[in-house]
Amino acid sequence: MSDTPMSVPGLCDDPAMLDEWYPVARSREIVAGTIAPTTLLGRDLIVWRDAAGTVHVWDDLCIHRGARLSKGWIKDDTVVCPYHGWRFDGQARCVHIPVAPDQPIPPKARAFPVRAQEQDGLIWATLGNPAHPIPAFPARDLPGFRTFHAGPYTYRANGFRAVENFVDATHFPFVHAGLNGVPDAPDIIADYDVTQTADGLVSSEISVFQPVGDFRKIPVQAGYTYYCLRPLVAAFSKRVTIVDPAQAHLGSPDDRFVTMFTVQPVNEVTSIARVIFAINFAPDLTELDMLPRQDVVYNQDRDIVETQRPERIPVDLRAEMHHRSDRMGVAYRRWLRELGITYGVIA
Ligand code: FES
Ligand SMILES: [Fe+2]
Repeated sequence: MSDTPMSVPGLCDDPAMLDEWYPVARSREIVAGTIAPTTLLGRDLIVWRDAAGTVHVWDDLCIHRGARLSKGWIKDDTVVCPYHGWRFDGQARCVHIPVAPDQPIPPKARAFPVRAQEQDGLIWATLGNPAHPIPAFPARDLPGFRTFHAGPYTYRANGFRAVENFVDATHFPFVHAGLNGVPDAPDIIADYDVTQTADGLVSSEISVFQPVGDFRKIPVQAGYTYYCLRPLVAAFSKRVTIVDPAQAHLGSPDDRFVTMFTVQPVNEVTSIARVIFAINFAPDLTELDMLPRQDVVYNQDRDIVETQRPERIPVDLRAEMHHRSDRMGVAYRRWLRELGITYGVIA
C-alpha cells in the first residue's frame, strides 16, 4: 500500500480487500488534460492521463496543505494544486513551487500514487498488493464477439449485495418482469451445481425462459453459466436459443451473450457497477440499440438491491435464509468468508 499522510476514519484496513484490483473509471472517460475525482474503499483519489497516454491514480490530496488536487487542473502535463499552485508531474514529483521557482524542491514534495492499469476498456487501481491479476473479460479472445460497455451504475448499496444479485437467476420474473422473466409463470429452477476453482466459483448451466432475453426483442430460452472471478467481479455466459421456430433464422445454436459485472467499492454501502458485455449474434445491432435495455435491467437491479437490509452482506450462513435455488449465493458468501474479508460484510 502506498504511504499517505491521511488518517481518515472509515478507511478500509482489510488486507483482503486492499489487495484486489477494482475499476475506478472507464478508459475513454479519462482524456488527457482533465482530472477526475473518485473514491475507492473510502479513499479519495484522482484519475488523470498524461500527454503520453499513461493513466495515473493518486490520492486526492496535496502534501503542502492538504487541498484537493481534484479541484486543480492540468498544465504542461502536470497536475496543478488549486491552492498555491504547486505542480506535480507524471512521476508524482513536485516540479514547481510558484513562490520560489528557482529554488530546489524538497524531495518530500510529492503526490501519492496508487497502482493503476488499463484493461478491457477500464482503468483498474489497487490500494494494496494483489496476488491475482486483473480478471480478463471472458469473451475478449473469443472469435466472432463484439464487445460493448454499459454503466456506470451507482448503487447506494453494498458491492457484495450487488454481485450476489448479478449471479442470481431467480429474481428475473419479478425484478425484470416482461424482459428476463414472466411474473405469472416464473421458472422452476432445476438443481444446479457450483464448483470452486483456483479462479473463483462457477455454476453449472441454469435454464430460464425470457420473453425479451436479449437485444433482438424476441423470446428465448436462456442458459446461464455464472462465474465469480474475484470478490467484486462476476460474469455470466448466457446461451440464447430462440423459442419460436418461425424466428429461429434470426439466430443460431451458438448464440451467446457474455457479461462481466465489476464493482468499484466506493465504501461499504456505495458501489459503482460497470458492465462489459459481448454478443456473437445480431451483427446489425449497434451500441445505441443495446444500451437502453442494459440501463433498464441494471436500474431495476439497483432499485431492489438498494432496499436490502442489513446493508452489509452477512457471510455467516445462519443469517438470512437460504433456499436450494440460492446455491450460487450461498457459495459466494462462503467464499467471501474463506477469503477472510471483513470490510463490507457482517461476519
Ligand atoms: S495546498 Fe497544494 S499547493 Fe498548497
Ligand atoms: Fe437482475
